[in-house]
Amino acid sequence: MYSEKVMDHFQNPRNVGEIEDASGVGTVGNAKCGDIMRIFLDIDDETHIIKDCKFKTFGCGAAVATSSMATELVKGRTVEEAMKVTNKAVMEALDGLPPVKVHCSLLAEEAIHAALWDYAQKHDITIEGLDKPKSDIHEGEEEDEEAY
Ligand code: FES
Repeated sequence: MYSEKVMDHFQNPRNVGEIEDASGVGTVGNAKCGDIMRIFLDIDDETHIIKDCKFKTFGCGAAVATSSMATELVKGRTVEEAMKVTNKAVMEALDGLPPVKVHCSLLAEEAIHAALWDYAQKHDITIEGLDKPKSDIHEGEEEDEEAY
């Protein structure tokens, strides 16, 4: 049911933990399943490159695997490039997720956006394409699920 990559990232998640004095922190949850994800970003103010990224996820295995992969995908990228790390990109990198687990990857995308939003707010900058994130991805989830 799960790809080898999903199992690998679930069993050996990368970048677990917290970053002290992070440049941006984002927390999102899904009221329906009760899962919560928090992403920490360490961003270079000059280059806007994400030097480090860590996560804490209180959630299902797919949420752990998608947060782990999402942190790997944004590390070393600029904030603008990190905007391209969508839930689809994360799922592709994991060789797919079962349909009922697609919402878990949305949590990863939204948590990154929330952390970028926090960074943008603190530095008074605008990141193209970034809107104020939802704190609960369950709102509007139906539309998102219909897209797949
Ligand atoms: Fe909710 Fe996976 S079941 S994030």
